[in-house]
Amino acid sequence: MGTAGGKIILCGEHAVVHGGDALVVGLERGVTATATASTEWRLSIDGKALTNADASLEALTRVGRHLGSNPATLDLQVRMPLGVGLGGSAAMAVAVARALGELHGNPLPDADAFAAAQIWERVFHGNPSGVDAAAATYGGCMLYNRERFANPTPDVVASARVGVGTALHIALAVAGPPSLTKTMVERVAERKSLDPRAFSDQFDAIQRIVACARVCVESGDHRKLGALLTQNHEHLAAWDLSTPEIERARKLALAHGAFGAKLTGAGGGGCVLAVCPETALDDVLAALEAGGFATLSAVVPPSPADSRAH
Ligand code: PMV
Repeated sequence: MGTAGGKIILCGEHAVVHGGDALVVGLERGVTATATASTEWRLSIDGKALTNADASLEALTRVGRHLGSNPATLDLQVRMPLGVGLGGSAAMAVAVARALGELHGNPLPDADAFAAAQIWERVFHGNPSGVDAAAATYGGCMLYNRERFANPTPDVVASARVGVGTALHIALAVAGPPSLTKTMVERVAERKSLDPRAFSDQFDAIQRIVACARVCVESGDHRKLGALLTQNHEHLAAWDLSTPEIERARKLALAHGAFGAKLTGAGGGGCVLAVCPETALDDVLAALEAGGFATLSAVVPPSPADSRAH
């Protein structure tokens, strides 16, 4: 068996594809994979077998080959919503890689699980930064950067860890079906090629936001963190990644006491995150539900430098 969790990107998504930092929190809820030896590669999700046409089966086959594994049947139990920008795909990938390692009696080092997950992720999007795979592999709150994680030694991972000063309360609303991450990443790349100077200014502004947001997570200044996340959202919206439903969810959250709200992940749909005072979390969730949004919440517990939201 192998397990891995999902993730919430607090800020820095998309910029992270272009070499920037992203602030991400690993979720405790995620995926458990059970591997059994078999004559061909098979994959089921919550008891439903996938067909050969499913890209996840292709991803599994590639990961299996990369790990030098004989064919196996992988049964996945998913305890998180899929396809809403919370890193379900990477959680599956890491859980699968770990389960294959266990099947062959070689528990997989984290760096190898991370590398295997990147192979899986590349089947779905051409140029994944690796932020999802890193959060699924290592959990906790971290400042991810693709160049630093090109060689994720224990020192690199330790220095990416971000402490959480006081418990962080997050409301999530599913603002419609997400667009493909690949399409959204291409949209941003096109903006970059059309106007590199404007892109560079926005990239730099996002990096300043990420650096300040990290300090706020550490110190527990959630009011300021919320304001920073809202600013990050404005840059993402300028890259045409927001939608009317995302804006509606943000407005509801802000009107009911959230400190800040933004899209999280690729955008074009998917989840909106709202950083809330603990006392406002229930109100924000209720307002989002009354507005017709499916909701989730996450609490990131205080931690010196290693926390998982639950
Ligand atoms: O696929 P999602 O919604 O979890 O988004 C991943 C974050 C991006 O920065 C948009 C893409 C990437 O590879 O980092």
